[in-house]
Amino acid sequence: MNFYILITLLLALFTSSSPTNGIEFDYCVADPTLPRGSSGYACKDPAKVTIDDFSYSGLRNPGNSSNVFKFGPNPAFLSTFPALNGMGISMARADIDVGGAVPIHTHRVAELAILIKGRILAGFIDSNNKAFYKTMEEGDMFIFPPALAHFQVNVGKVPAIAYASFPSSNPGFQGVSSSLFKNDLPTEIIQKITLLDPEQIKKLKAGFGGTN
Ligand SMILES: *[C@@H]1O[C@H](CO)[C@@H](O)[C@H](O)[C@H]1NC(C)=O
Repeated sequence: MNFYILITLLLALFTSSSPTNGIEFDYCVADPTLPRGSSGYACKDPAKVTIDDFSYSGLRNPGNSSNVFKFGPNPAFLSTFPALNGMGISMARADIDVGGAVPIHTHRVAELAILIKGRILAGFIDSNNKAFYKTMEEGDMFIFPPALAHFQVNVGKVPAIAYASFPSSNPGFQGVSSSLFKNDLPTEIIQKITLLDPEQIKKLKAGFGGTN
């Protein structure tokens, strides 16, 4: 193929898939009182949008870490910060008490995080079951690839604080343990699909609030 035709085709492809192409309004602050469509929330009346819609102070405060993992999650996702609607971006704050951990979990998208305070061991497991993990110091960043199971353990002497950003306004958080033990999936099915002992499954279901 002629080199110039190839370049022209590639340019056309990039232009048509560019996220800045086809935007029909400046912003669409979500109005959660209106029905939600497949492509997101309906927009709040632009005449009623103010600067307060575009700012969010919720990450000033630590998340609540009074739980078995000693992990305080504090998401600034679409549900708490409606101006993120349609922006394809969000953040979260994670507070991890001494000896605590962010339980192994997945998101629909990648996570880019920075450790602000403390020392943590951060890691993920790839789809070939290779485990990657490293101790992170204050100021260090780490990227967790999309959909892979990942975790953080506080290995320092002070409560740790990390901030994470996601290329989605609603990245989701699916914990492996809560997925298995916080619902009514019967113990014998969980035994079959995990090979865990039924006694251990019952114990974890009791701890996580699951039944059956
Ligand atoms: C933190 O979570 C615990 C356990 O769910 C709850 O009892 C407590 O009220 C929460 N604290 C705050 C400040 O929300």
